[in-house]
Amino acid sequence: MDPLILGIFQYIGPNGTIGSAWQHPDDESANFTSVKHWTRLAQRFEQAKFDLLFFADSYGFPVIDDELIPAAVREGRGIPQGDPVAVIAAVAAATERLGFIVTASTTVEPPAANARRFSTLDHFTDGRIGWNIVTGSSGATAARLMGKPLIAHDERYDMADDYVELSLKLWEGSWDDDALVLDKERNVYADPAKVHMIHHEGPYFRADGVLTMPPSRQRTPLLVQAGTSGRGMQFAGKHAEVVFVAGGDPERVARNIAAIRQAAVEAGRAPDSIKILVGALFLAGATSGDARLTHERMLAMSTSEAAAAIFAGNTGVDLMSMDPDKPLTEQHTEQGLSNLQRYLGGNGTPAPTVREIIEDFRVTGINGSVFVGSGVEIADQVEEFVRITDADGFLIQPHLTPGTYDDVIEHLLPELRARGLARDEYVGDTLRERIFGVGNAHLPESHHGAKYRAGTARPGELSVGGTR
Ligand SMILES: Cc1cc2nc3c(=O)[nH]c(=O)nc-3n(C[C@H](O)[C@H](O)[C@H](O)COP(=O)(O)O)c2cc1C
Repeated sequence: MDPLILGIFQYIGPNGTIGSAWQHPDDESANFTSVKHWTRLAQRFEQAKFDLLFFADSYGFPVIDDELIPAAVREGRGIPQGDPVAVIAAVAAATERLGFIVTASTTVEPPAANARRFSTLDHFTDGRIGWNIVTGSSGATAARLMGKPLIAHDERYDMADDYVELSLKLWEGSWDDDALVLDKERNVYADPAKVHMIHHEGPYFRADGVLTMPPSRQRTPLLVQAGTSGRGMQFAGKHAEVVFVAGGDPERVARNIAAIRQAAVEAGRAPDSIKILVGALFLAGATSGDARLTHERMLAMSTSEAAAAIFAGNTGVDLMSMDPDKPLTEQHTEQGLSNLQRYLGGNGTPAPTVREIIEDFRVTGINGSVFVGSGVEIADQVEEFVRITDADGFLIQPHLTPGTYDDVIEHLLPELRARGLARDEYVGDTLRERIFGVGNAHLPESHHGAKYRAGTARPGELSVGGTR
């Protein structure tokens, strides 16, 4: 088994992904409004040699029937939430090697604005940035906040296809590698013959212009996707280099991972051209008794009301208004599908009742797997999970921040390292090289975005949608 890719899951807000742990005296997540909170955390993660720090994001907020859900507001769940892009320059300056992945939805800003921002971030991080491309997990509320209609689920992915296509043209096609001259004596900053206008006329977006930033170390940020609906996987198969999937039942996770690799193959790429990280919580202790105690305390801070509120915000489905003894089978939503599909049964498993769904969501949260035990016990569970699922790594979610990570560093990492399952030194300077090995700072030739590379396209070759 190869060493795992280990990332940290955070968002700019109080609480983790299960329960409202901000109330715990040792939890520091309510300091999310302080930039020093983030620089200190990033340095701690880098010292422990975690590969990357991921920031989830959404413009959504928990609402049912036009009213904010009191349980969510009271407990700080799903609201508040800040903009993760703003913190990246600070954490980049405070670290040297840690990678960063930031979520940005394809439904909020025009592609060119987002492309320039990520190009700037790639410069400021010296090639350590990734973009988690989402169509928005809480689409209905985000849309109404932006004053836009909610676009149907699958069409959001059609739009995202077009959005990414345009972004790739800007990143890959605007500047030749040697366009920057930087000759002060002759006053030649850049060679005009090597900076190109791009033209895009897609089904949803059009652009006629240039990326107004010179190429950064990775040019295109590491492309990440999260969302395992059928259409989401098809999107991932074409564009993603890394996919985040929810944890939970290993057999279901294995099916999702196999389907994502198959989607890559259908898009003409190798099955392992996509690395897959599973969202998971590790409650590691010096002994299994200690870890179990932490688990019990965590669950005591997780209420059914807040769990249902988070579920409603994510899926648009209000479990609290439904018959607790009936399953969800026929439920339809135009919001995020992954968290609904988790609970529809199938493949020989009966669909759980609404009561069971609320309880499962209360104890496993939005992304699924909870591993509890001593370092040795969790390492055993992790080996088994990876063997069944074929995952490439994990996104480690917090119960307490930073306590959960400190426990992982102290109790679990040494055991994973002893088994060759975690690295003790950083590989590669850029984030893409961290994931795909030294020498792979740019999009690979097998990625369709490579065809937009400046200086490589022949006239007429890129005529679909009008490229240059
Ligand atoms: C580990 C992990 C992290 C995620 N982070 C985000 C996020 O930050 N923002 C977001 O809108 N969706 C995020 N998602 C995806 C949502 O859960 C949701 O599935 C998706 O946005 C809707 O796509 P779908 O309909 O294909 O599921 C994440 C998923 C996983 C497994």
